[in-house]
Amino acid sequence: MSDYLVRLANQPATRGIIKSIGLPTPQNLRRAAGAYSATPLQGRRALIGQVAGGYATQTVRSVLEAAGASIEESVPGGGMDSGKFDVLAFDSTGMQGVADLRAFYDFFHPSVRSVASFGRVVVLAQAPETADSVQARSAARAVEGFVRSLGKEIGKKGATANLIYVEKGAEKLLEGPLRFFVSDHSTYVDGQAVRVSKPVKAVGKMTYVAPLEGKVALVTGGARGIGAATARRLAAEGAHVVCLDIPGDRETLEATAAEVGGTALPLDITGAETPQKLVDFLESKFGGVDVVIHNAGITRDKTIANMKEQHWDLVLAINLEAILRVDEALLGAGVLHPHGRIVCLSSIGGIAGNMGQTNYGATKAGLIGYVQAQADELADRGICINAVAPGFIETRMTAEMPFIIREAGRRMNSLSQGGQPEDVAELITFLATPGAAGISGNVVRVCGQSLIGA
Ligand code: NAI
Repeated sequence: MSDYLVRLANQPATRGIIKSIGLPTPQNLRRAAGAYSATPLQGRRALIGQVAGGYATQTVRSVLEAAGASIEESVPGGGMDSGKFDVLAFDSTGMQGVADLRAFYDFFHPSVRSVASFGRVVVLAQAPETADSVQARSAARAVEGFVRSLGKEIGKKGATANLIYVEKGAEKLLEGPLRFFVSDHSTYVDGQAVRVSKPVKAVGKMTYVAPLEGKVALVTGGARGIGAATARRLAAEGAHVVCLDIPGDRETLEATAAEVGGTALPLDITGAETPQKLVDFLESKFGGVDVVIHNAGITRDKTIANMKEQHWDLVLAINLEAILRVDEALLGAGVLHPHGRIVCLSSIGGIAGNMGQTNYGATKAGLIGYVQAQADELADRGICINAVAPGFIETRMTAEMPFIIREAGRRMNSLSQGGQPEDVAELITFLATPGAAGISGNVVRVCGQSLIGA
């Protein structure tokens, strides 16, 4: 759906008027077109800073270099040239205590004005829970407040700020997340803190171009919306995509599957026989599956006092119960391959709660509990499971909202606009790749740093 304010704010004739009446002037965001490339930062400049003794700086430098960036290092007290930087990367893993937070001021105070439009700030820190002193733990947690605040300051440029908490010893798993967060594939992922750790035993082969070549992916609710956008992105990275949707939607489903060169599978995800049918189908046709995206979901909004019993049951059945049943069958039969990936579509409604969505909010929060519990169980098989929580995304669902609620949802984030289904698809696709092997049990929002549930 088109956003009138983004259109008007990006036309020279109307931009001034929009500004003068005090409305936000959201940027026409820069988005990557198509598949991953080996050198997404070709022709772009990156500035790297660090707290002395950091264990991630060397990896950051080599990853950014390999991605094609020209690198400059910040010299404490040194001058900076006047150009713009597409990436600011700051490694704070060397922090020992809160006094080291001063290094953030020293690096960002002189450099933040040099962040280019659509630039990317990425900060690395030790995960607070793995820090070995009260001082270090407090400092590591402080980084989250810093990054989230910075994101709000640079959002008007269409730039984002994200934090990667990286466990010591897991630096080799940084490349995938770093490449994602500094690229134009992460446009609407803002103000997030992901954890890169090493509980997943075997990580498989890392490839960053066509990483899903030869893989089979199942996308539920794959006929339209976020599911169809995800099917397109997974296919662009080389996967054969099985799009599952309700039999009533057969025509749209078949069109989407054909468009991505995939397979249409008309099935109701809640059917009693569905888990076994899926096991049989995936096993007999493809010898198993590598990626499972639990995207099918519905809303049936009413306050709990006015909610019909069948609407409670239906939302719970589709959004939560079916997912657990399907996974139990796929995992029990070993149909999901080792090094596989599961991504569940949660929602910021599951984090913050929404008036009229007790049923929906319960399911989307339930999925967060599910991925956190399941991550430990699956680590031995090298399988990662994560939740993606979209904010306001321009889809059929949000187009139906009353104007005032829609406008509030769209604007109440650092980028002052809604996301596109493709933005969600980008995050899901990244989590499905071998490069995301260090990320499991995470909940990552794709919400432009929405104020809701922040
Ligand atoms: P959509 O309504 O456009 O697509 C959902 C798809 O799921 C439809 O094709 C539908 O037929 C399918 N589906 C529903 N029940 C099914 C069943 N029993 N068996 C098989 N397929 C079934 O929805 P949209 O907007 O693309 O959302 C996708 C997911 O993202 C959902 O889980 C939703 O809760 C979540 N989400 C969406 C947000 C948004 O702003 N659009 C925000 C937060 C979360």
